[in-house]
Amino acid sequence: MPKIKTKFICQECGYESPKWMGKCPECGVWNSLVEEIEQNNDKAYIATTNIIMPLTVDEIEITEEERLKTGLDELDRVLGGGIVRGSLILVGGDPGIGKSTLLLQVSKNLSLNGYKVFYISGEESEKQIKIRAQRLKVKGSNLYIVSETNLDILEKHIQNLKPDIIIVDSIQTMFKMELQSAPGSVSQVRESTLTFMRIAKGLSIPIFIVGHVTKEGAIAGPRVLEHMVDTVLYFEGERHHTYRVIRAVKNRFGSTNEIGIFEMKGDGLKEVLNPSEVMLSGRPEDVPGSAVVCSLEGTRPVLVEIQALTSATAFGMPRRMATGIDYNRVVLLMAVLEKRVGMQLQTFDAYINVVGGLKLDEPACDLGIVCAIASSFRNIPIDSKTVVIGELGLTGEVRGVNFIEKRILEAQKLGFERCIIPYENIKAIEDKLDINVIGVKNIYEVLEEVLGG
Ligand SMILES: Nc1ncnc2c1ncn2[C@@H]1O[C@H](COP(=O)(O)OP(=O)(O)OP(=O)(O)O)[C@@H](O)[C@H]1O
Ligand SMILES: [Mg+2]
Repeated sequence: MPKIKTKFICQECGYESPKWMGKCPECGVWNSLVEEIEQNNDKAYIATTNIIMPLTVDEIEITEEERLKTGLDELDRVLGGGIVRGSLILVGGDPGIGKSTLLLQVSKNLSLNGYKVFYISGEESEKQIKIRAQRLKVKGSNLYIVSETNLDILEKHIQNLKPDIIIVDSIQTMFKMELQSAPGSVSQVRESTLTFMRIAKGLSIPIFIVGHVTKEGAIAGPRVLEHMVDTVLYFEGERHHTYRVIRAVKNRFGSTNEIGIFEMKGDGLKEVLNPSEVMLSGRPEDVPGSAVVCSLEGTRPVLVEIQALTSATAFGMPRRMATGIDYNRVVLLMAVLEKRVGMQLQTFDAYINVVGGLKLDEPACDLGIVCAIASSFRNIPIDSKTVVIGELGLTGEVRGVNFIEKRILEAQKLGFERCIIPYENIKAIEDKLDINVIGVKNIYEVLEEVLGG
C-alpha cells in the first residue's frame, strides 16, 4: 500500500505546508492550519477508471423504494417520513441527553424488522452497551455491536458485514491513522465524516452519526460537518425535565419545521403522541399570570401554557426575563402594553416562562404572552378553558395567523370552551365547531374578552 501523504492547509488563505505551524506565514492568522490527506491526482488513475457519461434527469432511474421506518413515529416525522437510503444523518446533543439511548432504540426496532444493523461505539465497551441494551430490552441476532475507533478497521468490518444501516457513536472518537492529530480534532472529524459519507453514498447505506455539542451549542468540529451531511438533528431538553425534543436543523429530504417529543423513562425513550396534553398537565387553574396559546410546531398544533409574573422593582432598572421565548419579542410586547393600554410596567420586573421546556418562536403566541403579563399585572386570572391565538402589531392591532382551523380543533379536542382569535381569521373557518370562537381586532378587545377590560 502506498504511503498516504498529508499536508497542512491554512483554512483562511489556502497556504500549504508540510509541517504544522501555529501561525500561517502567508496571511498571519493563528491556528488556522489543518491537516489534510493529499489527494491522489494521478492522471493514470483517471485513465484507468471507468468514466460514466453524465445522464439527463429523465435517464436517471430510481427504484421506488420506501424509506426505512425507525419504529419511532416521532423520529420518522422529523426525518421527513423515515430514513432515506444512503443518507448521512448527524445527531447532535448535550452530554447525557440520551443520544446513545435513542439510537440504540432505533437499532432495536430496525433489527427486529429484519435489517442488519451495525452499531459502532467509540465511547463505550461492548459490555457497557449491553448494559444499556438490557435496560432497553434490546435483543436480536441482527444487531452487531463493535467498540472500535480506527476507521481502517471499521471499513473492513463494514465490507465483511454488509449492514443495512450503520450507527456511529460518536464521530469525535473516530480516527484515521494517517493523520497525526488526535481524534476529535478538526482534521480527524472531517476525514472521518468523509469516509462515512463515501460508504453511505457508495453502498447506499444510511448512517447515523452522533456529534457532541460544544459549550456554545454547536456541534463540535468544523462547521463543514453540517454541510457535508444530509440531515442534522438536534436532540434537546432540560436536564431536570424528562421531556426531550428532537428537531431537524437541516434536512435534504424533508421539512425542518417538525419536532418529535419523547419522554425519558427508566426503560428508554417513550414517544409523546399527544404533546398538548403533556404540556398542559399540572396547569394551575384560576390563577393570575397563566395563558394558554396554540403554537404550530411543524404540521402539528401544540397547546402550551405561558406564565408571567410581574412584581414591583426593588431597584432602579426593572428586570425582564424570558425562558422559551425571544427576549426581544417580550420587551416589544410589553412596550405595546405600556403605550397602547397605558399599563405602567416601567416600575415592574417581569418574568415570562414557557411551561414544559418548549421553545416558541411563532408570532401567533403574541396574544398569549400579552394576556399572561396583563393578567399578572392586574391580578385577574384568565378563564382556564380559554385559548388565545394571534399576532400583535405595534399599533395594538391583532393580525391574522395561518392554519387557524387546525389550532382551534386542537383546543376543542382538549376540552377548551373558548378560543380568542384574530377577527380576520373568522371568515377562514368553514367547519362547524363546538367551541365558542371570538374574533378580536385589537389589544383592547382582547383584554376586554380575557380580563373584562
Ligand atoms: N436507569 C435509568 N433510568 C432512567 N433514566 C436513565 C437510566 N439510565 C440512564 N438514564 C438516562 O439516560 C441518560 C443517558 O443517556 P445516553 O447515554 O443515551 O446519553 P448520551 O447523549 O449518549 O450521552 P453521552 O453524551 O455521554 O454519550 C441519562 O442522562 C439519564 O437521563
Ligand atoms: Mg452516548
